[in-house]
Amino acid sequence: MKKSVASLSNVSKYYGKGSLQVRALDGLNLEVNQGDYLAVMGASGSGKSTAMNILGCLDRPTKGTYELNGTAVEKLDDDSLADIRNKELGFVFQQFHLLQEVSALENVMLPMVYACVPPLERKERAADALYRVGLENRMNNMPNQLSGGQQQRVAIARAIINQPSLLLADEPTGALDSKTTEDVLNLFDQLHTQGITIVLVTHEDNVAQRAKKIARFKDGKVIEISQN
Ligand SMILES: Nc1ncnc2c1ncn2[C@@H]1O[C@H](COP(=O)(O)OP(=O)(O)O)[C@@H](O)[C@H]1O
Ligand SMILES: [Mg+2]
Repeated sequence: MKKSVASLSNVSKYYGKGSLQVRALDGLNLEVNQGDYLAVMGASGSGKSTAMNILGCLDRPTKGTYELNGTAVEKLDDDSLADIRNKELGFVFQQFHLLQEVSALENVMLPMVYACVPPLERKERAADALYRVGLENRMNNMPNQLSGGQQQRVAIARAIINQPSLLLADEPTGALDSKTTEDVLNLFDQLHTQGITIVLVTHEDNVAQRAKKIARFKDGKVIEISQN
């Protein structure tokens, strides 16, 4: 049997109260197993980002349970959540979210500072991760000296640096042109082949086709799971 990485059972997330209440998630069930490469699709407002925020321990469900590697996340305090985010999860966003004041190398080193990795090892591992994403010649560049695709590759290197059990990417190619999108998707393929578990949100069919499975969201739940 495959090992469960993330398991959302009957998860709801409500915003606001009374007649203004929005049910961003409404009884969502989703299983992510080790080695999965899952694309999440669905109309705008269907709850994709809310689900990613919960999977990423950035937010808690209003109802339901979330188990990450067998741990019931909703029972943890904020410090434990921050610890899990750093050790178990990697994030990639549409707008890269790099620190503008520091180099590519230092951006990739940052998660290891929080994980208390010794300084020399940080530098070695960050350089190795930048090599893995093909940026060995851009390590000392500042983010504004890099193209969008290069910045996204730095963000991916940063996301995988602590060997997360789950890589979460919300519209990672949404701000990229088609050539650069292809580069980033090739990189995800490579990471998946190396054993990284990936959940990627996209509204583009050609991007979703690169995943192994597609979960379609509607009104805060999964209405269909298909295999590619
Ligand atoms: N912080 C928030 N406060 C209030 N409503 C929110 C908040 N975040 C999301 N929503 C609402 O929840 C629903 C789902 O949003 P979201 O998860 O961002 O959808 P998607 O990523 O699929 O476009 C939408 O109706 C959105 O307006
Ligand atoms: Mg969204």
